[in-house]
Amino acid sequence: MNGERPRWAQISGWGMYVPERVLTNADLARVVDTSDEWIVSRTGIRERHIVSDERETTATMAVRAARRALRVANLAPSQVDLVIVATTMPDYPFPATACLVQDALGAARAGAFDLSAACSGFIYALSVASSFIRSGSADHVLVIGSETLSRMADWTDRNTCVLFGDGAGAVVLSASTERCGVLASELGSDGSGGELLIVRAGGSRAPANYNTVSNGEHYLRMNGREVFRFATTIMPKATEAVVRSAGWQLADLDLVIPHQANIRIIESSIKRLGLPPEKCFVNVERYGNTSAASIPIALCEAVAQGRVHPGDKLVLVGFGAGLTWAAAAVEWGVPVPAKPKPGLRVLTDFLFGWAGVRSLWRRTTRHVYNWILGPVGKDDWRGRMRQRADRLRKGSGK
Ligand code: UT7
Repeated sequence: MNGERPRWAQISGWGMYVPERVLTNADLARVVDTSDEWIVSRTGIRERHIVSDERETTATMAVRAARRALRVANLAPSQVDLVIVATTMPDYPFPATACLVQDALGAARAGAFDLSAACSGFIYALSVASSFIRSGSADHVLVIGSETLSRMADWTDRNTCVLFGDGAGAVVLSASTERCGVLASELGSDGSGGELLIVRAGGSRAPANYNTVSNGEHYLRMNGREVFRFATTIMPKATEAVVRSAGWQLADLDLVIPHQANIRIIESSIKRLGLPPEKCFVNVERYGNTSAASIPIALCEAVAQGRVHPGDKLVLVGFGAGLTWAAAAVEWGVPVPAKPKPGLRVLTDFLFGWAGVRSLWRRTTRHVYNWILGPVGKDDWRGRMRQRADRLRKGSGK
């Protein structure tokens, strides 16, 4: 690490994952009182991907996206310094989903934490990761947005259940001495609007109990019209602010990658900015709103479709529960398509496989120690071992 020369945080790898199962508007019309016509005309969404296997979670999707991003970056998991997972739907209240991801990847040297800023979470995480890199505290950071909103949706509430989908997107941010990557970011919040998009129970205010469950308070609730109004105002403002911070003009932008919540919000924001529609990337029709995962998924697809080139000026911009908003100005610094190093790829794949063995070994040794030392601790471990040996000799086995 070099603390003297200016450092920049460039996107060196990217990857996405969505579950296989596709839920179309026609499928939804069989479950709630809605229609393909209503959903397409009000939101632009035609289908979304939904987890169907209970073993598939926010962490498992994050791991799949992260492995792809590491392969593109030609980076071994052990080179990652930090894993940040932006999510509204972690696997557990704790441990952090990022720790599960760190273990599954075998990122043995990495710190790991979750970041909660709803749909703005990925850009918040990108900004935090960029600060770690620019200050010299990290060289490579995995930034992941992953969501399983289908498990928080009330499938009887047509106002919300038609909007959301599941998936994960990841980028690797790496230190660079070239001025590129995340050049500026703008983060904002207005907690007075917290009620507009909320899950009322499951936290310290209303821990889970019979009433919270039977009243459906663990489901996501939203005042769609208010959120819509907020979004169409804040997206252009945040974009303008970050463009100014980066020292750019709006006309310099090559591509805007907005949070994919609703085509009407996206079109209104782009129009207010005076940008032509072709400067905006949209894929909401195929994924719905995947919250913190929507922007990295859109970024991956934009790259795959040849919409991003070295030197391009991008703005990533989002809004969400909180209320929160965030924008990042990114100058693309690496070749596309990525140039994989075949030898390194074989090694990385081996290390991903090895991560499972490593994790199993650590769990097993912890169990063995626990069995030997017992619940009290290691103060009298020799005595305990002697006792266990005596019992085994006497044939009790305990
Ligand atoms: O990541 C951030 C998350 N949130 C958002 O981005 C959401 C922002 N808001 C929106 O995208 C829009 O407000 C919605 C798509 C949620 C709703 O569109 P809208 O044009 O604002 O509709 P509305 O709420 O004004 O509702 C119009 C009508 C209502 O009927 P009445 O009261 O006028 O008789 C709703 O009951 O549409 C009805 N409606 C539906 N009808 C068929 C609401 N949901 C549905 C539905 N199918 N799924």
